[in-house]
Amino acid sequence: MCGIVGYIGNKNACEVILNGLNKLEYRGYDSSGIALNINGKIEVHKYKGRIKNLEEKLAPLGFNSPLGIGHTRWATHGAPSDKNAHPHSNMSGTIALVHNGIIENYIQLREWLINEHHVQFESETDTEVVVHLIDHYYEGDLLEAVFKAVEKMKGAFAIGAICCDEPDKIVAVRKDSPLVVGLGKDENIIASDIPALLKYTRDVYLINNGEVVLLTKEGVRIFNESREEIKRDVFHVTWDAEAAEKEGYDHFMLKEINEQPRGVDATLNRRLDDYNRITLDGIQITKEDLEKINKVYIVACGTAYHAGLVGKFAIEKFAQIPVDVDIASEFRYREPFIDNQTLFIAISQSGETLDTLAALREAKRRGARVLSIVNVVGSSVARESDDVFYTWAGPEIAVASTKAYTTQLISMYLIALHMAVTKDAISQDYYDLIVKELKALPAKVQKMLENTDTIKEIAKINYEKQHAFFIGRGIDVAVALEGSLKLKEISYINSFAIAAGELKHGTIALVEEGTFLTAVATQDHLFEKMLSNIQEVKARGAYVIGVAKEGNKEIEKQADRVIYIPDCIDEVTPVLSVVPLQLLAYYMAVLRGCDVDKPKNLAKSVTVE
Ligand code: AGP
Repeated sequence: MCGIVGYIGNKNACEVILNGLNKLEYRGYDSSGIALNINGKIEVHKYKGRIKNLEEKLAPLGFNSPLGIGHTRWATHGAPSDKNAHPHSNMSGTIALVHNGIIENYIQLREWLINEHHVQFESETDTEVVVHLIDHYYEGDLLEAVFKAVEKMKGAFAIGAICCDEPDKIVAVRKDSPLVVGLGKDENIIASDIPALLKYTRDVYLINNGEVVLLTKEGVRIFNESREEIKRDVFHVTWDAEAAEKEGYDHFMLKEINEQPRGVDATLNRRLDDYNRITLDGIQITKEDLEKINKVYIVACGTAYHAGLVGKFAIEKFAQIPVDVDIASEFRYREPFIDNQTLFIAISQSGETLDTLAALREAKRRGARVLSIVNVVGSSVARESDDVFYTWAGPEIAVASTKAYTTQLISMYLIALHMAVTKDAISQDYYDLIVKELKALPAKVQKMLENTDTIKEIAKINYEKQHAFFIGRGIDVAVALEGSLKLKEISYINSFAIAAGELKHGTIALVEEGTFLTAVATQDHLFEKMLSNIQEVKARGAYVIGVAKEGNKEIEKQADRVIYIPDCIDEVTPVLSVVPLQLLAYYMAVLRGCDVDKPKNLAKSVTVE
């Protein structure tokens, strides 16, 4: 999604903003721009393309200003172009604005501004209506003009505005889209996300929905929608910007795949005491609460949704509670059965996915108890949940989610076990077995990461394929779905996943000589069935990669190549079987010359519907 940065202070705003925008590149964008207060006038420079393009155009101008705002745009309304890039200005050029989100009523506002106030628009964007609204209400007080403009606006937006007649301030607003404020000495910064601030400060204000912020270099004031000033505790960021660097790997994605043993271990072992009892920090669900729960929904998008599918399996198997899993963009529009006996579990790496946030809000509105599994500390989903279970994956920069996924799985297992123990629904022996198997996973993931030759060979043979199939049974369907998503989103190979038993109901018509198919066959009790499915597709010429547990020699008789995962019980295989699929997708995408960390059309955090 878009990224915004604003600076006021004694440094050169141009440098601070460009540094911040570079740290927000992972959010996905197609153009960038900056507005600076230069000798009492606002200079706007904005171009389609990478930030590097903007930097090259600014360099010879040698700007040095104490005040400015900047933006990386991921197009929603209006194609990527210089004109549609942000910042946008009012007609007289005295006000400039950057925005992340969508103004849902921009058409009505645009018509009103044109017809009633003869505004001339320069761009096709929804954003431009905002700066003209502020201009319309401006009577010498930028803060008040922003308040009035925001009252007219519907949708999701994080905005930053400056005015050349008030060169000592930035006004920012947060509604649904993320916004944080970095606090410095005689300087303050707004940004869409914390990485943009870390070079300058670790002390931040996390801005809540509906809040308006006034920054001067001396200080920051936060107001609620009723214009009442509110106090906010300073949040001190503990993780390092360097953690978000590649640390020697060719891509963030490969770095993050290799960080999975550490993430799985951190997410797991911080919640197990010396007696392997689960202590869930951030979750206050009691036995009484659980006894009231008669419905569990797990709601998420993309990879997080695939983690939810495994979560369903775990909660139903360990805690014997029925679970519905749904994609967030569908959930909120299908009149779900929700009341105060519903537990709503939201899973989100970024904690800013608007579809998931909107579904969470709908569930809360209907009385559900909301528990979220989130990777970004202090993100919107986390702040709006009753209980939060943080994955300790560390910053995930690559658009394709990997370490967040495996730590989401661990989180689901722990929550399911906690529910099972709280309900007395699990025997001590079975509990001990699951915990023992979970604790063995970090080392098993590490072992797979050290043996990638087979995966690299398979990638070399198949990277030019245009289509790919993934099949599985039981919990392996969720892994097949995740492997398929990884491959399609970074290699652009047309990939899809299907329950193996469904092949014969239509899809097998597509299987022909050379069809590239991966069969995830880790479930002992379903292996014979999977073997039959492999034989079915082999008989039609498919090239089959099998994913199976070490020691399974049977599959070698049927599959063309086999990728083995370390032996483990069926219940926890997804944490292992997904790793070779992540690596296969990565190597195939690299061989295809794709932009692995920033795939086309995608964003790390989808903060629009
Ligand atoms: C996963 O590789 C994709 N980047 C995407 O499907 C992602 O999982 C989805 O947008 C949800 O994001 P979230 O976990 O931040 O909510």
